Amino acid sequence: MPVSIRQIHPVFVGEVSGVDLTRPLAREEVAALEAGMDQYAVLVFHDQRIDNDQQMAFTRNFGAIENERGGNITRPDQRRLPPGMNDVSNLGQDSRPLARDDRRRLFNLGNQLWHSDSSFRAVPAKYSILSCRLPCSTGGNTEFADMRAAYDALDARTKAEIEDLVCEHSLIYSRGSLGFTELTEDERAAFRPVRQRLVRTHPVTGRKSLYLSSHIGTIVGWLRPESLSLIRDLAEHATQPRFVHAHQWRQWDIVMWDNRQTMHRVRRFDEAEPRDMRRTTVAGDAPTVEQIAA
Ligand SMILES: [Fe+2]
Repeated sequence: MPVSIRQIHPVFVGEVSGVDLTRPLAREEVAALEAGMDQYAVLVFHDQRIDNDQQMAFTRNFGAIENERGGNITRPDQRRLPPGMNDVSNLGQDSRPLARDDRRRLFNLGNQLWHSDSSFRAVPAKYSILSCRLPCSTGGNTEFADMRAAYDALDARTKAEIEDLVCEHSLIYSRGSLGFTELTEDERAAFRPVRQRLVRTHPVTGRKSLYLSSHIGTIVGWLRPESLSLIRDLAEHATQPRFVHAHQWRQWDIVMWDNRQTMHRVRRFDEAEPRDMRRTTVAGDAPTVEQIAA
């Protein structure tokens, strides 16, 4: 059965059928999914009973797996999942929900803010691939916003104003906006801000998009309050319901999204319940702008 994709939101998001992601894919299947990502920016798959090795193998169809180091405050000896897997569950190594005051949990609350994965890296992520191993019973939807449609809907004056702007992104900023500021010196060094263009152009389709993320802390050359008020205004524009799709998770769903063209966030859920979500990330190919040595 060939890969088929049905658009499930007025501006983006395709639901895919006719492909088993646990098996090696044919070249034509990979090409169909890549074309689907270019067009829809988010692809939804159901009933994919995948394990970690299969998920990493599927991910490598689209590029190298991003090195997950520097993306959170979990120490190597606290990891639940093997290298190459991003643990976005609420679980510790004992497979039980983290304690309320566990700083890893408090740090991970940042995932409830609109963001683009790894926008805090000099070479930001291309795709994220998220597998639902165990959903929670209420809440916990992941919402996606189409940054191409949001860009298209800006007025000409705003488009001209932001065209060449460059932002600084860091986990320090997103976590700081929630009041999480207790970071060690090593963590601060690992989370040093990087620069990203505010307007990106998709390398295949040529479509422009807003490269927004709660990791943004300032606009280069602007004062911080004026930076953040513009960014907040753009983020509010970009996350209007008409640009947003909410995914309600079922066990064994996989959702794959293009971080270059979308933002996402997870919604609140009952953290007393285990919620096992595992992400793999396809590394990007290049920085969006030249980095300046600090
Ligand atoms: Fe994320």
